[in-house]
Amino acid sequence: MARQILTLNQISVKGLERLPRDCYEIASEFSHPDAILLRSHKLKPEDIADTVLAIARAGAGVNNIPVAECSRRGIPVFNSPGANANAVKELVAAGMLLGSRGIVEGIQYVDTLAAMDDKAEMNKTLEAQKKQFKGSELVGKTLGVVGLGAIGSMVAEMALTMGMDVVGYDPALSVEAAWRLSSEVRRADTLSALFARCDYISLHLPVLDSTRGLINQELLSAVKEGTCLLNFARQEIVDEDALVAALDEGKLRKYIADFPSPPLIGRDDVILMPHIGASTDEAEDNCAIMAANQLKDFLENGNIRNS
Ligand code: MLT
Repeated sequence: MARQILTLNQISVKGLERLPRDCYEIASEFSHPDAILLRSHKLKPEDIADTVLAIARAGAGVNNIPVAECSRRGIPVFNSPGANANAVKELVAAGMLLGSRGIVEGIQYVDTLAAMDDKAEMNKTLEAQKKQFKGSELVGKTLGVVGLGAIGSMVAEMALTMGMDVVGYDPALSVEAAWRLSSEVRRADTLSALFARCDYISLHLPVLDSTRGLINQELLSAVKEGTCLLNFARQEIVDEDALVAALDEGKLRKYIADFPSPPLIGRDDVILMPHIGASTDEAEDNCAIMAANQLKDFLENGNIRNS
């Protein structure tokens, strides 16, 4: 009998093709599925039917799945570590460039010239105005990477190739494991040491009880003046009141994040994106293929393989 897989949202066709139709039925509505394959849908304990044997998330974080409840019921929960890391890494590069150059302001300014039809006049105006969009380069600046899993490691290595100095810290990894990274990535002994010395800080931690609100008032008040904080992980890691205070005091020069949050929207010192870090064709395919393979291997062979 074909296994029933409940897919809750946005799973790429290339991933679904891993589940051959003669063995698997795939639909967005089954009352008693054998497994659940999902992306960002927020799954509640009561959504998980008694028949469910496994859940796979096509993505890195599992904070949209009630993991404790699944453990209690013996349901393995898979994620797709590393499968979208390159996509996030590339967006972090864009984030650092947005934080170092007057790109956003420059583009907004050019839009205001739409009504000018004399090109020579427009160029004259531009030349007079463009000094206000002057930025600085990333070469020689220090990037602190907090969290050195699949994504953080890639960000660290990328920043080295951009000529930056890189300092890393991971609250969960032992020194030996963390420093399988290039020896050019220097290790900060503490998070406060990292916060005190970096021009750019990029967060790559999952949301756990130990990381919720981790970036707090104490750390944010210790940053080097003019630091730019990038959050392409999860909003919950940063204490938002402390963040607003650090921005208001001018300690933090910019906050660039992949999540809109009402108190931050519209500020000149904040750039927010609509959670698009993993939204590329390649990342969506890679995540869905990994997640579908994990489910298949578990349902057919009983293997629990989180890769
Ligand atoms: C992730 O956890 O990897 C991202 O949230 C993925 C996504 O946007 O689906």
